[in-house]
Amino acid sequence: MPDAATAGNGASAGPAGPSAPVTATAAGALTVRGLRKSFGDVVAVDGLDLDLRAGEVLALLGPNGAGKTTTVEICEGFIAPDSGTVQVLGLNPVADSDAVRSRIGVMLQGGGAYPGARAGEMLNLCAAYSADPLDPAWLMSELGLNSVARTPYRRLSGGQQQRLSLACALVGRPELVFLDEPTAGMDAHARLLVWELISRLRGDGVAVLLTTHLMDEAEALADQVVIVDRGRRVASGTPGELTRRGAERELRFTAPTGLPIAELNTVLPPDYSCAESDPGRYLVTGDISPRVLAQVTAWCADLDVLATDLQVASRSLEDVFLDLTGREMRE
Ligand SMILES: Nc1ncnc2c1ncn2[C@@H]1O[C@H](COP(=O)(O)OP(=O)(O)OP(=O)(O)O)[C@@H](O)[C@H]1O
Ligand SMILES: [Mg+2]
Repeated sequence: MPDAATAGNGASAGPAGPSAPVTATAAGALTVRGLRKSFGDVVAVDGLDLDLRAGEVLALLGPNGAGKTTTVEICEGFIAPDSGTVQVLGLNPVADSDAVRSRIGVMLQGGGAYPGARAGEMLNLCAAYSADPLDPAWLMSELGLNSVARTPYRRLSGGQQQRLSLACALVGRPELVFLDEPTAGMDAHARLLVWELISRLRGDGVAVLLTTHLMDEAEALADQVVIVDRGRRVASGTPGELTRRGAERELRFTAPTGLPIAELNTVLPPDYSCAESDPGRYLVTGDISPRVLAQVTAWCADLDVLATDLQVASRSLEDVFLDLTGREMRE
């Protein structure tokens, strides 16, 4: 595949020509291959591939600066990549930007609004750009915004501004929506309203690419999760696959430093291993069974060592993420 200097050359590859719409089902709603983007010395996106089909939710999960927003903005056609290809609904988001914009919904991180306009007016304005919009009043009500319909945008709370931005992204009945941290700053109730709405979109066959820091959000909504760090995919799968991967139990204990753990590792079954994670802190990884726990404590007893603070705990996805990246997935 030739290395495209702009966002993708795939749309021109088909016999139908560069601007012929290809349905989301036939082409995939979004196809990203080998995407790269640097800002000076900072490599924001480093060879990312993504595939999203109609009726699917893909969550890009990663810490601050992982390259999520950059990826989304390239897909939206706002930024040109250094290399790699992007197809949005079978089209090139830069070359075919008008056709693409009329079929996608975009919720930018941090909004983008007319600060003086009232909430209801803003949504009506967004609806006016669409040939067949959803009923703005219905959308306001679904997102719990009825009581602030006449409030100027700048006086809305952060969570209300976010919900209004989401309403604006959805009012044009997009086939594909990009939601960059859609629930950032929302309280639990508002977050639930948004989750319900996103689930319903998915049920209606809309493709959704969302970014988040929150594993529970990805778990609640996503068909596939792609964990990114420093612009690269570090893990991916369905939420179930990823949490099963994170469901291994591990054993931690405290004991004098410098125990001969190579010896313990010969005693333990092959899938288990012990390491001194910090001086005097030991970590046994593997799915800790009662038998393995007994083996570890018996080994300590043979050495006449008292292991304290023994803890057997499940590993969360955040632990897996930490192992993969050495960084926490926090805002
Ligand atoms: N316009 C720009 N100019 C220079 N550097 C940029 C620009 N946009 C992004 N970056 C850098 O690229 C990297 C990726 O940023 P990006 O905003 O894509 O991350 P993110 O995953 O969305 O982070 P967050 O979770 O904080 O929103 C960061 O190091 C950021 O500083
Ligand atoms: Mg971001």
